[in-house]
Amino acid sequence: MKKIETIKKPITYEMELFEKKFRLSMSSRVALLNRITHYIVNRKGKQMRPMFVFLTAKMISNGEVSERTYRGASVLELIHTATLVHDDVVDESDRRRGFFSINALWKNKIAVLVGDFLLSKGLLLCIDNNDFDLLKIISVAVREMSEGELLQIEKARNLDITEAIYYEIIRQKTATLIAACCSLGAASVKPLSEEVETMRKFGELIGMAFQIKDDLFDYGTQQIGKPTGIDIKEQKMTLPLIYVLNHCSKKEKSWLINSVKNHNKDSKRVKEVIAFVKDNGGLDYAVSKMKAFQEQALKLLEPFPESPYKKSLILMVNYVIERNK
Ligand code: IPE
Ligand code: IPE
Ligand code: MG
Ligand code: MG
Repeated sequence: MKKIETIKKPITYEMELFEKKFRLSMSSRVALLNRITHYIVNRKGKQMRPMFVFLTAKMISNGEVSERTYRGASVLELIHTATLVHDDVVDESDRRRGFFSINALWKNKIAVLVGDFLLSKGLLLCIDNNDFDLLKIISVAVREMSEGELLQIEKARNLDITEAIYYEIIRQKTATLIAACCSLGAASVKPLSEEVETMRKFGELIGMAFQIKDDLFDYGTQQIGKPTGIDIKEQKMTLPLIYVLNHCSKKEKSWLINSVKNHNKDSKRVKEVIAFVKDNGGLDYAVSKMKAFQEQALKLLEPFPESPYKKSLILMVNYVIERNK
């Protein structure tokens, strides 16, 4: 059995029902929107966020989920989808999940509006059901994600990013949403419990490892359903490059900075930068940091009693860093 199937085993029923609800959650009276949302749901991603929601909820409650859990999972996947649609506009990326991105097919104008639509659908799903505690968790994540993406743009302009700022960016743009998945999973079945905060922290740690892995993909040549090698083109400095910048000679450093600043659209030069980062231990360093976050996340699961849900969550933590897309 494939790893992801093994992980999903204790939440098979919930994930199937979730998919039906998720499809419905996107409906609109506007035909063009329906056409685009169909296109989106028919090219689904790994659905790791709803998986985190259900596994956390079931681990905390020993197998129970509620309607609130389903709504939370839909909202979080809607928000995730909205940010991907917007992110591809921001990053000028033409591929997502192995197909053309929304901006590539329908242009930026439409992609921006579709992203807003998905976001508002998500928030309304909570409001219409008076899930204000869940809405609070989600709104914090939405704010942090926008701030994180903007902080990233600011740093890409000035090229003055440090390792600490990198962690702050990925915490905001990626880890907070996964943190929201885990705390919401817990809050949906056990509001106001101590576990809500423990699981938020767990999600944040594994979310950090998740984005480091994503940034490592960009240095690879593997087929992952979206372009690779585009971070440097967007002047996005991620952990492998940051590490190397701090551990090379002055001359090499100015060559690297000059490459990212003035030659970032030159494919040959970008390839040279990538090779330099690889040869100078940048990837190894990022892998070691990713594993450190993974270990911290696993530690937080230790006190929970053994269950098939906990087992799957542990597998999921390992999947985050071993996955091949
Ligand atoms: C991609 O997330 C965006 C990041 C935060 C790196 P996923 O890798 O979970 O995307 P899908 O949903 O599986 O396509
Ligand atoms: C993902 O960052 C952050 C989001 C909040 C979408 P990336 O720009 O690295 O994500 P991908 O690689 O396009 O999925
Ligand atoms: Mg992107
Ligand atoms: Mg990326």
